[in-house]
Amino acid sequence: MHGRLELKITGKSNGIQVPKGIEALTNQLIMKNTLRLFLYCCLITTFFACQKHQQNSQASIIPQPVEIRFNKGTFNFNQDTKLICEDKSLDFSAQYAAALWETILGYKPDVEQKIGSESKNFIVFRLLENPEMEIGNEGYILEINPEKAVLSANTLAGILYGIQTITQLMDTQNTGVLPSCLIKDYPRFAWRGLHLDVSRHFMPIEFIYKMMDYMAIHKLNIFHWHLVDDQGWRLEIKKYPKLTEIGAWRVDMSHLHWNERPLINDAENASYGGFYTQDEVSALVVYAADRNITVVPEIEMPAHVMSALAAYPEFSCTGENLGVPPGGVWPITHIYCAGKEETFTFLENVLLEVIEMFPSEFIHIGGDEADKTNWRSCLKCQARISNEGLADEEALQSYFIQRIERFLNSHGRKLIGWDEILEGGLAPNASVMSWRGEQGGIEAAKMGHHVVMTPGSHCYFDHYQGDPAIEPLAIGGNTTLKKVYNYEPIPAELTAEEAKLVLGAQANVWTEYMPTPSHVEYMVFPRLAAMAEVVWSPKENRNWADFSRRMEHHYKRYGRLGINYSRSAFQVSVKPEVNSANRSLVLNLFTEVYDPEIRYTLDGSIPDPNSLIYKHPVEINESATLKAAVFVNGKSADQILKRSFDLHKAFTATIELEYPNSPKYNGTGTYSLVDGIYGSEYFNDGFWKGFLGDDMVATIRFPEPAAISSIEVDALQNYASWIFLPEKVVFEISEDGSNFRKLDEIANDITQDEKGKLIQLFKTTQSTKNITAIRISMKNPGTCPPGHSGEGEKSWLFVSEIIVR
Ligand code: ACM
Ligand code: ZN
Repeated sequence: MHGRLELKITGKSNGIQVPKGIEALTNQLIMKNTLRLFLYCCLITTFFACQKHQQNSQASIIPQPVEIRFNKGTFNFNQDTKLICEDKSLDFSAQYAAALWETILGYKPDVEQKIGSESKNFIVFRLLENPEMEIGNEGYILEINPEKAVLSANTLAGILYGIQTITQLMDTQNTGVLPSCLIKDYPRFAWRGLHLDVSRHFMPIEFIYKMMDYMAIHKLNIFHWHLVDDQGWRLEIKKYPKLTEIGAWRVDMSHLHWNERPLINDAENASYGGFYTQDEVSALVVYAADRNITVVPEIEMPAHVMSALAAYPEFSCTGENLGVPPGGVWPITHIYCAGKEETFTFLENVLLEVIEMFPSEFIHIGGDEADKTNWRSCLKCQARISNEGLADEEALQSYFIQRIERFLNSHGRKLIGWDEILEGGLAPNASVMSWRGEQGGIEAAKMGHHVVMTPGSHCYFDHYQGDPAIEPLAIGGNTTLKKVYNYEPIPAELTAEEAKLVLGAQANVWTEYMPTPSHVEYMVFPRLAAMAEVVWSPKENRNWADFSRRMEHHYKRYGRLGINYSRSAFQVSVKPEVNSANRSLVLNLFTEVYDPEIRYTLDGSIPDPNSLIYKHPVEINESATLKAAVFVNGKSADQILKRSFDLHKAFTATIELEYPNSPKYNGTGTYSLVDGIYGSEYFNDGFWKGFLGDDMVATIRFPEPAAISSIEVDALQNYASWIFLPEKVVFEISEDGSNFRKLDEIANDITQDEKGKLIQLFKTTQSTKNITAIRISMKNPGTCPPGHSGEGEKSWLFVSEIIVR
């Protein structure tokens, strides 16, 4: 076991991990005299620093094992190396290993069934007769010496994971060379999940098989299959054939942005989609189980079911048929009627077939994002509320979920749902998947329920993983590899007892913007590697720097497997900092790869192998265009950072705002509007200041009276994000710094209904002299326009720079 040795000699932890025995020894020493302790610690530190170095150079296992110790020598695979199963039940494991290793070795090792006998050159798979408690039901022990390797576990799952570790040891070294070592390993969490939405875009069954293989490599064990949503019902249900005859198909509107596709009920021309037959599903479930993966199906209710209601409109409140939506729907009001008994009969019949297909203990029933507008005006829903003595529509949702829970429980299954199932009262035995932050998970755990953590901030792999200017279109957000890696599934608010209710965490993959399997791979990898370590490795063994080093090998693995992984971690990011004393910008460059060679230029030219190497922050005091890229073996990564810095006359000037911006959108801070940096079309890029409902009124003061030839200010419009251009911009000037007179006024001629993203510049070219202060006033329209989803609510005004020349 690794524990953390916290030696307070220098006042901070040395961060070196040592085996427990040594820790105990050190603790004894603390009882003795300080000098001896000091000397001894120096010795231990040096010894384990060496150990660690040795470990670093010999292994690149992801997720990081609980305990790993290297010894001298190697075990070298050759054509005569045998894989030996000590029990018939291990045959699959050995065959699996042989097939996996063939892809690395180039030949397939022989598998034999027997006990002992061979003296060397074999790898034995052994189920422990006396269970080893510490490694539990998914852990393993691996001992490799120059003669043989022994992989033992309490279960086949443990053997499977040991095989993954051997595979990674094998491909870190030269082909077929395993370092002598002793590894003891087991997972931190029981729920190590990957979710995949196959409704927004249908994914062929062959791809699902591939994902099972990739999950096993990462030691993940729950596949949360999101089979139902508005845009497609993907699971054959024999009793209700129209679910897939009609519900699985939509009119193809791929040429339009997801959120700009109109509702259309035209089953004749609904040709885009697909579904899985029950036979396909059952075979997949077995394949997954062989890889220790439980498939948890998600059958959404009461919302996200317009596909079902296109097939059976009678289970909605209105009975209307709105078709299968070709794109985004918001808010989701066309949902199952909670007043009709027929709805429940239908759902129970569906669930009976689901239970038959999926042996999983948990059945996910969705429960998210139901807009209850139709329930409010439906006579049957209202009758249900009154007959059942329910307080309101939230309580009706709770009634709905509790009723489904009773049905699932009566068939020996457990209900899990998104955190909205807390609203109106949580069903008595339900487990909660916390996605709208951690709050739902915290609340449910405090009530004694099991939870799975999957907050959008760290676990949503539909978010961008790099610069949106370079990345393919995604839903939004910013969840880099490092951000995923730094996720901690146990919320700080939980007591140790409550923390035990956290089953684990999972990555969620919503596919609105992922039309193909290869695009899904791009969004999932390498972030899944980070998630794997979050859910498997002991918290104290996690170390970003070492993980990023191990990722070097992992990228090669992905390459060998033919995975379309993202190289976004190789992108260079820049964090500019204003140095107002020097009237300069300090450019800090960083990436998420290990020990990167960053080369850059400041004249707008493309960096090449002879460009400047980035060693420390670069200070600039005149305008420049930075381009930067990571170089590997003299070759530039294909994604190049480009950013311009405009050190104009108001750069680093004193600036005051009459109305503060929202703390959520604070740009780069105090100097954001005069830092020489323009925001991009992406409102979340960290360079925009956002004003909610308020005007932007800024006063800029110059240290010396200045001559001015132009003043310019930018603003963003992003209809979907409630961000609108100002109605007008007024420019005022002052000679004495207190009396201002109007210099110019520019009206906005772009309407609020312009739906795309755009940046508009408002500029005056009236020239003046002897100016000590200027005031710029931008009029926020105040509210979102009629017909907008936020009609009448406060609108955002986004501003990134005031440019003075
Ligand atoms: C969700 O992302 N709507 C669960
Ligand atoms: Zn109803």
